[in-house]
Amino acid sequence: MSSVLEGLFRVAFRGRLRRFAGIPGPAPRFPFGNLLDFVGRQPWEVLADYGREYGGMSLTWAFGTPVVVLNDPGLIGDVLDRNHADYYKDAPGAALAPVILPQCLFISNGPAWARRRAAHPMSLPDLDAWLDAQVPVLRAELEAGVDQLVARSATGPIDLTDAVLRLTFRAFARVTWGEPFDDADFDRFMYLGGVGDRRMKNPLLALLPPLAPRFWAERRAWYDRFDRLIAAAQNPAPHRTDLLATMVRRGSPPSPDEFRALMANIFYGGAYSASSCLATTLYLLAQRPELEAALRAECAALGVADRAALDAAPLLDGVVRESLRFLTPVPAYGRNVATTRSTVLGGHTLPPDTIVVVTNWLLHRSADYWTNPDQYDPHRWTSGAAADAAERGYFFPFGRGPRRCVGMRFALFYLKLAAAAVYSRVRVEPEPGVAYKQAYFFGVMAPRDLRARFTRP
Ligand code: HEM
Repeated sequence: MSSVLEGLFRVAFRGRLRRFAGIPGPAPRFPFGNLLDFVGRQPWEVLADYGREYGGMSLTWAFGTPVVVLNDPGLIGDVLDRNHADYYKDAPGAALAPVILPQCLFISNGPAWARRRAAHPMSLPDLDAWLDAQVPVLRAELEAGVDQLVARSATGPIDLTDAVLRLTFRAFARVTWGEPFDDADFDRFMYLGGVGDRRMKNPLLALLPPLAPRFWAERRAWYDRFDRLIAAAQNPAPHRTDLLATMVRRGSPPSPDEFRALMANIFYGGAYSASSCLATTLYLLAQRPELEAALRAECAALGVADRAALDAAPLLDGVVRESLRFLTPVPAYGRNVATTRSTVLGGHTLPPDTIVVVTNWLLHRSADYWTNPDQYDPHRWTSGAAADAAERGYFFPFGRGPRRCVGMRFALFYLKLAAAAVYSRVRVEPEPGVAYKQAYFFGVMAPRDLRARFTRP
């Protein structure tokens, strides 16, 4: 049967197969191509399998559409960095535009992307000064949030991913908008995120705008809130250090629509991925009491840290980097070859608009590059053993090249401060014997079904 379906596929897509001849990959079958490989599995696990089986450049098929999969640091560097101008970002534009707005940096291309990247709040030339000013604000917000988690888990374990996501959402609101957001805001954020997530997972949904009236009502309420906050911040009080006030004071913002989209997207751009990393860290450290004790001691010594102290805490830095390596929050994303010309990649000519998928999942765990890759070992960073991993292209949790995560510095700062707030105040006790399971939401890998108690040490 399978060879009949393979034969049918060859007949149906003979021309396309010829254009991609020579790129190894699993045999496609009519009508799904290789899509059935992905049923019941996380996509990054399948992409990693392709890397193990077929090498750094492989070919898979979504129905009759060819998809080039990259697991090789050099080829990934070609696409994301050296030859980035030969590619553009197609997915997940259509799926996400109704949720994150078309003016958002994440889904922009060409000159609009360049303008928005330069105007993005996280591209501030004096980002350092802004980050410095956030230490006391963020620390206070995080400590209050952590105390709430202790109270919430007094009667029993709570969902770890949800708890950390709420903490992150509130912290991001405080430093970007200068005021707290509440549970109703969080629910709206999750509802709209859920719509975006379903549209990303089901390309058919992305062909049309969302149809549910509730979506449009929630979206209006979500963005009206930002319009009001922006309007009210035109003469910000001198004590305000939040990102909105800082941007308004700087002057020359982009157009109002772009400004709103860039600011508002800090939630969707960063909260899922940063909270995934933090929740993963809390889980992993609970499995390693000796590491947790060492981190607790380091955090206690930090006191009311400033940013220099935070950056000088080696284990904190190693723990965050190792979590980003070990269970990376953004394991795969795509590019398309430019629509007007073909390009050469790895010795193969790729026709215009070919889909290319980049993944770091296998490279972050490859024995070709890491000693004991399947061991969670923050000391590989503190000892300097992994110092050149990013430069050599096998560690890239934030992407590579000009479209590398614009929020990277803020994310690292947040993750360290949040971990310090947790380990200087509380103990995290996940339910014993529960294995780490992965979920996929809004393009982000996060732990699921983990419950934990937050207690006083
Ligand atoms: C641990 C946390 C984070 C991870 C792992 C992460 C990962 C990534 C990755 C891999 C990309 C590149 C995607 C691509 O090339 O297609 C990216 C881009 C981006 N990230 Fe992050 N991110 C994180 C936090 C944040 C935060 C906190 C923000 C906002 C403040 C943010 C905003 C963005 C934006 C706007 C882009 C698009 C940049 C562009 O296209 O020029 N991210 N991120």
